[in-house]
Amino acid sequence: MSFPVHRPRRLRIDSRLRGMIRDVSLFAKNLIYPLFVVDGLVEPHEISAMPGQNHWPLARIHEPVADAMNKGVVAFLLFGVPASKDECGSQAYDENSIVCKALRHIRQHCPQAYLITDVCLCAYTDHGHCGLVKADGVVDNDSSIDLIARMALAHAQAGADMVAPSDMMDGRIAAIRTLLDSHNFGDLPIMSYSAKYASAFYGPFREAAGSAPGKGDRSGYQMDYRFARDAMPEFELDLEEGADILMIKPGLAYLDMVKLARDSFSCPIAVYQVSGEYSMIKAAAEKGWVNERAVVLESLCAMRRAGADLILSYFAPQVAEWLKEEQA
Ligand code: PBG
Repeated sequence: MSFPVHRPRRLRIDSRLRGMIRDVSLFAKNLIYPLFVVDGLVEPHEISAMPGQNHWPLARIHEPVADAMNKGVVAFLLFGVPASKDECGSQAYDENSIVCKALRHIRQHCPQAYLITDVCLCAYTDHGHCGLVKADGVVDNDSSIDLIARMALAHAQAGADMVAPSDMMDGRIAAIRTLLDSHNFGDLPIMSYSAKYASAFYGPFREAAGSAPGKGDRSGYQMDYRFARDAMPEFELDLEEGADILMIKPGLAYLDMVKLARDSFSCPIAVYQVSGEYSMIKAAAEKGWVNERAVVLESLCAMRRAGADLILSYFAPQVAEWLKEEQA
Protein backbone atom coordinates (compact mmCIF):
# COMPACT_ATOMS: atom_id res chain seq x y z
CA MET A 1 0.00 0.00 0.00
CA SER A 2 1.36 3.38 -0.80
CA PHE A 3 0.51 7.04 -0.81
CA PRO A 4 -2.12 8.51 -1.03
CA VAL A 5 -4.04 5.58 0.49
CA HIS A 6 -1.52 5.14 3.22
CA ARG A 7 -0.67 8.24 5.24
CA PRO A 8 1.25 7.49 8.49
CA ARG A 9 0.75 11.10 9.57
CA ARG A 10 -2.95 10.39 10.18
CA LEU A 11 -1.90 8.84 13.47
CA ARG A 12 0.28 11.78 14.45
CA ILE A 13 -1.78 14.89 13.86
CA ASP A 14 -4.06 14.72 16.91
CA SER A 15 -2.29 14.78 20.28
CA ARG A 16 -5.12 12.79 21.92
CA LEU A 17 -4.67 9.98 19.43
CA ARG A 18 -0.88 10.08 19.84
CA GLY A 19 -1.43 9.61 23.56
CA MET A 20 -3.83 6.70 23.00
CA ILE A 21 -1.57 4.61 20.81
CA ARG A 22 1.83 4.98 22.50
CA ASP A 23 3.36 1.63 23.34
CA VAL A 24 6.37 2.76 25.38
CA SER A 25 5.87 3.83 28.98
CA LEU A 26 8.10 5.14 31.74
CA PHE A 27 7.13 5.05 35.40
CA ALA A 28 8.91 6.07 38.60
CA LYS A 29 8.67 2.44 39.70
CA ASN A 30 10.97 1.46 36.80
CA LEU A 31 13.78 3.58 38.25
CA ILE A 32 16.63 2.77 40.61
CA TYR A 33 18.56 5.66 42.15
CA PRO A 34 22.31 5.14 42.81
CA LEU A 35 23.73 6.82 45.94
CA PHE A 36 27.23 7.25 47.35
CA VAL A 37 27.81 6.97 51.09
CA VAL A 38 31.23 8.03 52.34
CA ASP A 39 32.80 6.82 55.57
CA GLY A 40 34.03 9.64 57.81
CA LEU A 41 32.28 12.41 55.90
CA VAL A 42 30.46 15.03 57.99
CA GLU A 43 28.58 17.19 55.50
CA PRO A 44 27.19 16.17 52.11
CA HIS A 45 29.14 17.64 49.25
CA GLU A 46 28.61 17.70 45.55
CA ILE A 47 30.61 15.35 43.33
CA SER A 48 32.24 17.87 41.03
CA ALA A 49 32.12 15.66 37.92
CA MET A 50 28.42 14.91 38.57
CA PRO A 51 26.61 18.19 39.26
CA GLY A 52 23.51 17.62 41.37
CA GLN A 53 24.81 14.35 42.88
CA ASN A 54 26.36 14.21 46.34
CA HIS A 55 28.72 12.27 48.48
CA TRP A 56 26.61 11.54 51.57
CA PRO A 57 27.71 11.07 55.18
CA LEU A 58 26.33 8.01 56.97
CA ALA A 59 24.21 10.07 59.35
CA ARG A 60 22.36 11.73 56.46
CA ILE A 61 22.20 9.00 53.81
CA HIS A 62 18.49 8.55 54.52
CA GLU A 63 17.78 12.11 53.33
CA PRO A 64 18.11 11.52 49.56
CA VAL A 65 16.27 8.21 50.04
CA ALA A 66 13.32 9.84 51.80
CA ASP A 67 13.25 12.67 49.28
CA ALA A 68 13.25 10.32 46.27
CA MET A 69 10.61 8.11 47.90
CA ASN A 70 8.36 11.14 48.29
CA LYS A 71 8.66 11.61 44.56
CA GLY A 72 7.76 7.98 43.84
CA VAL A 73 11.15 6.25 43.56
CA VAL A 74 11.11 2.92 45.38
CA ALA A 75 14.55 1.42 44.80
CA PHE A 76 18.12 2.51 45.49
CA LEU A 77 21.59 1.24 44.63
CA LEU A 78 24.18 1.86 47.33
CA PHE A 79 27.88 2.48 46.71
CA GLY A 80 30.27 2.79 49.62
CA VAL A 81 33.47 4.80 49.85
CA PRO A 82 35.50 3.40 52.76
CA ALA A 83 37.77 5.38 55.10
CA SER A 84 40.71 3.08 54.36
CA LYS A 85 41.70 0.73 51.56
CA ASP A 86 44.08 -2.20 51.43
CA GLU A 87 45.40 -4.80 49.01
CA CYS A 88 42.52 -7.22 49.51
CA GLY A 89 39.70 -4.74 50.02
CA SER A 90 38.95 -5.99 53.52
CA GLN A 91 36.53 -3.13 54.25
CA ALA A 92 34.29 -4.46 51.48
CA TYR A 93 33.23 -7.63 53.31
CA ASP A 94 33.39 -6.34 56.88
CA GLU A 95 30.06 -6.59 58.69
CA ASN A 96 30.59 -2.99 59.77
CA SER A 97 31.51 -1.72 56.32
CA ILE A 98 30.15 1.68 55.34
CA VAL A 99 27.52 0.01 53.16
CA CYS A 100 26.40 -2.32 55.98
CA LYS A 101 26.11 0.65 58.32
CA ALA A 102 24.20 2.60 55.66
CA LEU A 103 21.79 -0.31 55.14
CA ARG A 104 20.97 -0.43 58.85
CA HIS A 105 20.69 3.36 59.05
CA ILE A 106 18.39 3.73 56.03
CA ARG A 107 16.28 0.79 57.18
CA GLN A 108 15.63 2.60 60.45
CA HIS A 109 14.55 5.84 58.79
CA CYS A 110 12.92 4.54 55.60
CA PRO A 111 11.73 0.98 56.27
CA GLN A 112 9.94 0.78 52.91
CA ALA A 113 12.96 1.61 50.74
CA TYR A 114 14.05 -1.23 48.44
CA LEU A 115 17.80 -1.37 48.99
CA ILE A 116 20.17 -2.88 46.44
CA THR A 117 23.93 -2.91 46.96
CA ASP A 118 26.72 -2.76 44.42
CA VAL A 119 29.03 -5.69 45.11
CA CYS A 120 32.59 -5.11 43.91
CA LEU A 121 36.01 -4.65 45.47
CA CYS A 122 37.25 -1.70 43.39
CA ALA A 123 36.34 1.07 45.84
CA TYR A 124 37.95 -0.90 48.67
CA THR A 125 41.28 -2.05 47.21
CA ASP A 126 44.30 0.27 47.29
CA HIS A 127 45.14 -0.70 43.69
CA GLY A 128 41.57 0.06 42.55
CA HIS A 129 40.92 -3.21 40.73
CA CYS A 130 37.68 -5.13 41.09
CA GLY A 131 39.44 -8.25 42.43
CA LEU A 132 42.71 -9.39 43.99
CA VAL A 133 45.82 -8.63 41.95
CA LYS A 134 48.49 -11.33 41.58
CA ALA A 135 52.25 -10.64 41.57
CA ASP A 136 52.22 -10.56 37.76
CA GLY A 137 49.55 -7.81 37.79
CA VAL A 138 46.70 -10.03 36.59
CA VAL A 139 43.44 -9.97 38.56
CA ASP A 140 42.94 -13.39 40.12
CA ASN A 141 39.46 -14.62 39.39
CA ASP A 142 38.95 -17.54 41.73
CA SER A 143 40.28 -16.03 44.95
CA SER A 144 38.35 -12.81 44.22
CA ILE A 145 34.95 -14.44 43.93
CA ASP A 146 35.19 -15.85 47.47
CA LEU A 147 35.61 -12.32 48.81
CA ILE A 148 32.90 -10.95 46.53
CA ALA A 149 30.49 -13.60 47.82
CA ARG A 150 31.42 -12.67 51.40
CA MET A 151 30.68 -9.03 50.57
CA ALA A 152 27.25 -9.97 49.22
CA LEU A 153 26.54 -12.02 52.36
CA ALA A 154 27.57 -9.13 54.64
CA HIS A 155 25.14 -6.88 52.77
CA ALA A 156 22.35 -9.45 53.02
CA GLN A 157 22.93 -9.81 56.75
CA ALA A 158 22.84 -6.02 57.14
CA GLY A 159 19.43 -5.90 55.46
CA ALA A 160 19.94 -5.53 51.70
CA ASP A 161 16.89 -6.49 49.64
CA MET A 162 18.98 -7.42 46.59
CA VAL A 163 22.65 -7.60 45.65
CA ALA A 164 24.15 -6.43 42.36
CA PRO A 165 27.63 -7.79 41.61
CA SER A 166 29.54 -5.51 39.21
CA ASP A 167 33.02 -7.01 39.32
CA MET A 168 32.81 -9.15 36.14
CA MET A 169 34.72 -12.10 37.63
CA ASP A 170 33.70 -15.46 36.15
CA GLY A 171 31.61 -17.63 38.44
CA ARG A 172 30.75 -14.89 40.91
CA ILE A 173 27.00 -15.34 40.55
CA ALA A 174 27.28 -19.02 41.49
CA ALA A 175 29.63 -18.19 44.37
CA ILE A 176 27.24 -15.55 45.72
CA ARG A 177 24.15 -17.74 45.22
CA THR A 178 25.75 -20.69 47.03
CA LEU A 179 26.92 -18.61 49.98
CA LEU A 180 23.60 -16.76 50.31
CA ASP A 181 21.64 -20.02 50.13
CA SER A 182 23.76 -21.67 52.79
CA HIS A 183 23.02 -18.75 55.13
CA ASN A 184 19.28 -18.74 54.73
CA PHE A 185 19.12 -16.03 52.09
CA GLY A 186 17.66 -18.27 49.41
CA ASP A 187 14.98 -15.68 48.64
CA LEU A 188 17.37 -12.77 48.13
CA PRO A 189 17.55 -11.89 44.41
CA ILE A 190 20.73 -11.19 42.47
CA MET A 191 20.82 -8.53 39.78
CA SER A 192 23.90 -9.27 37.76
CA TYR A 193 25.86 -6.60 35.95
CA SER A 194 25.91 -9.13 33.16
CA ALA A 195 27.06 -7.35 30.02
CA LYS A 196 29.33 -4.74 31.54
CA TYR A 197 31.72 -3.10 29.12
CA ALA A 198 35.14 -1.57 29.73
CA SER A 199 33.82 1.91 29.09
CA ALA A 200 35.03 5.50 29.10
CA PHE A 201 31.50 6.47 30.13
CA TYR A 202 32.38 5.54 33.74
CA GLY A 203 34.77 8.52 33.95
CA PRO A 204 32.86 10.67 36.46
CA PHE A 205 32.06 7.63 38.64
CA ARG A 206 35.75 7.09 39.32
CA GLU A 207 35.71 10.42 41.16
CA ALA A 208 32.44 9.56 42.88
CA ALA A 209 33.65 6.19 44.18
CA GLY A 210 37.37 6.94 44.28
CA SER A 211 37.87 3.70 42.41
CA ALA A 212 40.15 4.39 39.46
CA PRO A 213 42.69 1.59 39.02
CA GLY A 214 46.19 2.82 39.95
CA LYS A 215 47.87 0.72 37.29
CA GLY A 216 46.35 -0.68 34.13
CA ASP A 217 42.67 -0.65 33.25
CA ARG A 218 39.70 -2.99 33.50
CA SER A 219 39.90 -4.55 30.05
CA GLY A 220 41.19 -7.82 31.54
CA TYR A 221 37.75 -8.44 33.05
CA GLN A 222 35.19 -5.95 31.72
CA MET A 223 33.93 -6.60 28.20
CA ASP A 224 35.35 -5.29 24.93
CA TYR A 225 32.74 -3.19 23.11
CA ARG A 226 34.21 -4.38 19.83
CA PHE A 227 33.32 -8.04 20.61
CA ALA A 228 29.56 -8.16 20.24
CA ARG A 229 29.09 -11.94 20.43
CA ASP A 230 30.62 -12.01 23.91
CA ALA A 231 27.34 -10.76 25.44
CA MET A 232 25.27 -13.89 24.91
CA PRO A 233 27.53 -16.27 26.88
CA GLU A 234 27.68 -13.72 29.71
CA PHE A 235 23.87 -13.61 29.87
CA GLU A 236 23.55 -17.39 29.65
CA LEU A 237 26.20 -18.12 32.26
CA ASP A 238 24.75 -15.60 34.72
CA LEU A 239 21.27 -17.08 34.35
CA GLU A 240 22.58 -20.63 34.73
CA GLU A 241 24.48 -19.58 37.84
CA GLY A 242 21.35 -18.11 39.39
CA ALA A 243 21.05 -14.46 38.38
CA ASP A 244 17.46 -13.20 38.62
CA ILE A 245 17.86 -9.95 36.69
CA LEU A 246 20.34 -9.22 33.89
CA MET A 247 21.82 -5.76 33.66
CA ILE A 248 23.47 -4.10 30.67
CA LYS A 249 25.87 -1.23 31.24
CA PRO A 250 26.41 1.51 30.02
CA GLY A 251 23.00 2.43 28.66
CA LEU A 252 22.42 4.51 25.57
CA ALA A 253 25.39 3.24 23.57
CA TYR A 254 24.47 -0.40 24.33
CA LEU A 255 20.75 -0.62 23.55
CA ASP A 256 21.44 -3.38 21.02
CA MET A 257 22.48 -5.53 23.97
CA VAL A 258 19.34 -4.60 25.89
CA LYS A 259 17.27 -5.65 22.90
CA LEU A 260 19.26 -8.87 22.50
CA ALA A 261 18.70 -9.78 26.16
CA ARG A 262 15.01 -8.82 25.96
CA ASP A 263 14.42 -10.96 22.87
CA SER A 264 16.36 -13.93 24.23
CA PHE A 265 15.21 -14.25 27.86
CA SER A 266 12.09 -13.82 29.90
CA CYS A 267 13.77 -12.53 33.07
CA PRO A 268 13.64 -8.83 33.93
CA ILE A 269 16.26 -6.73 32.13
CA ALA A 270 17.91 -3.69 33.65
CA VAL A 271 20.07 -1.02 32.06
CA TYR A 272 22.42 1.45 33.75
CA GLN A 273 22.53 5.03 32.49
CA VAL A 274 26.04 5.59 33.84
CA SER A 275 27.86 8.59 35.24
CA GLY A 276 29.29 9.76 31.91
CA GLU A 277 25.85 9.72 30.31
CA TYR A 278 24.54 11.76 33.23
CA SER A 279 27.36 14.29 33.24
CA MET A 280 27.31 14.78 29.47
CA ILE A 281 23.64 15.70 29.56
CA LYS A 282 24.18 17.95 32.60
CA ALA A 283 27.07 19.77 30.93
CA ALA A 284 25.25 20.33 27.65
CA ALA A 285 22.11 21.46 29.47
CA GLU A 286 24.09 23.89 31.61
CA LYS A 287 25.43 25.45 28.43
CA GLY A 288 21.91 25.72 27.07
CA TRP A 289 22.75 23.38 24.19
CA VAL A 290 20.08 20.78 24.98
CA ASN A 291 16.86 20.77 26.96
CA GLU A 292 17.72 18.60 29.97
CA ARG A 293 14.24 17.36 30.68
CA ALA A 294 13.47 16.48 27.06
CA VAL A 295 16.79 14.75 26.49
CA VAL A 296 16.59 12.73 29.69
CA LEU A 297 13.02 11.56 29.09
CA GLU A 298 13.85 10.68 25.49
CA SER A 299 16.93 8.69 26.55
CA LEU A 300 15.09 6.75 29.25
CA CYS A 301 12.16 6.02 26.93
CA ALA A 302 14.65 4.70 24.37
CA MET A 303 15.95 2.31 27.03
CA ARG A 304 12.42 1.16 27.79
CA ARG A 305 11.69 0.78 24.06
CA ALA A 306 14.79 -1.43 23.68
CA GLY A 307 13.28 -3.68 26.35
CA ALA A 308 14.59 -2.55 29.72
CA ASP A 309 12.24 -3.16 32.65
CA LEU A 310 14.45 -1.31 35.09
CA ILE A 311 16.67 1.72 34.62
CA LEU A 312 19.42 2.77 36.99
CA SER A 313 19.79 6.52 36.68
CA TYR A 314 21.19 9.44 38.62
CA PHE A 315 18.25 11.40 37.23
CA ALA A 316 15.75 9.08 39.00
CA PRO A 317 14.20 11.51 41.55
CA GLN A 318 14.14 14.32 39.00
CA VAL A 319 12.48 12.08 36.42
CA ALA A 320 9.90 10.92 38.97
CA GLU A 321 9.04 14.55 39.58
CA TRP A 322 8.74 15.29 35.85
CA LEU A 323 6.54 12.25 35.34
CA LYS A 324 4.22 13.49 38.09
CA GLU A 325 3.98 16.88 36.39
CA GLU A 326 3.10 15.23 33.09
CA GLN A 327 0.24 13.34 34.71
CA ALA A 328 -1.09 16.47 36.39
C1 PBG B 1 32.18 -0.83 40.19
C2 PBG B 1 31.22 -0.03 39.38
C3 PBG B 1 31.50 0.95 38.42
C4 PBG B 1 30.26 1.47 38.04
C5 PBG B 1 29.29 0.78 38.75
N1 PBG B 1 29.90 -0.15 39.55
C6 PBG B 1 32.78 1.47 37.91
C7 PBG B 1 33.65 0.62 37.10
O1 PBG B 1 33.35 -0.52 36.77
O2 PBG B 1 34.74 1.10 36.77
C8 PBG B 1 30.04 2.60 37.07
C9 PBG B 1 28.84 3.44 37.34
C10 PBG B 1 28.80 4.74 36.63
O3 PBG B 1 29.71 5.12 35.85
O4 PBG B 1 27.82 5.45 36.85
N2 PBG B 1 32.84 -1.84 39.52
